[in-house]
Amino acid sequence: MSKLRAILIANPKGGSGKSTLAVSLAGALATSGQNVRLLDLDKQQSANAWLARRPADLPAIWSFQPNQSTTDKSGWLIIDSPAGLHGKNLERALKMVERVIVPIAPSLFDMEASRTFLDALKTEKAIRKERAFIGMVGMRVTPRTRVAQVLEDFLQQHELPILTHLQDTQAYINAAFDGKSVFDLPAYQTQREREQWIALLDWLQQ
Ligand SMILES: Nc1ncnc2c1ncn2[C@@H]1O[C@H](COP(=O)(O)OP(=O)(O)O)[C@@H](O)[C@H]1O
Ligand SMILES: [Mg+2]
Repeated sequence: MSKLRAILIANPKGGSGKSTLAVSLAGALATSGQNVRLLDLDKQQSANAWLARRPADLPAIWSFQPNQSTTDKSGWLIIDSPAGLHGKNLERALKMVERVIVPIAPSLFDMEASRTFLDALKTEKAIRKERAFIGMVGMRVTPRTRVAQVLEDFLQQHELPILTHLQDTQAYINAAFDGKSVFDLPAYQTQREREQWIALLDWLQQ
């Protein structure tokens, strides 16, 4: 029996790359022919604004509303969330999902805030009972820089999977203007970006 597979994208900091990760993941799954819904819990509505710009001839991504129920339990639900998601709202979101992806940008402030968040996340019932699993993503990383190494060392300290590092590149920014993900751009232009997603997409299939 198929079931709806829900993924929460969360990080306490604004600008850590949650919305970019959420719409890119939605794009990756949609362009591989899967049924994808996108739920935007952030008041800023970045993911929904992106979706509103999405050209109709691209693989469809369906908008999903908070409290919407669905009888179609197949495919994916990607949930973009606001900065500082905590307490009851975090608990409620965790009840919906089987995976939480935490994008972490390589700055002292992002890493410190993420440390506190990851520690809190690990104490949540859904995580403790292994109903939902956490994966971390290095976000906006320029390879072979000092900060890339600092971030890697930080991520290694947690006993959590490091899914991938997504490079700091204009491709994400340019694609978003047109309601596209990097997976909607020509493959020859986005080969490096696509390669960096393989391990993350594999983890979702496990
Ligand atoms: N891998 C990346 N490369 C380049 N720019 C990025 C990348 N990820 C995010 N950004 C940019 O960083 C800013 C913050 O990202 P965003 O996804 O809006 O974060 P959040 O949703 O966590 O606030 C945006 O301007 C976005 O375009
Ligand atoms: Mg956002």
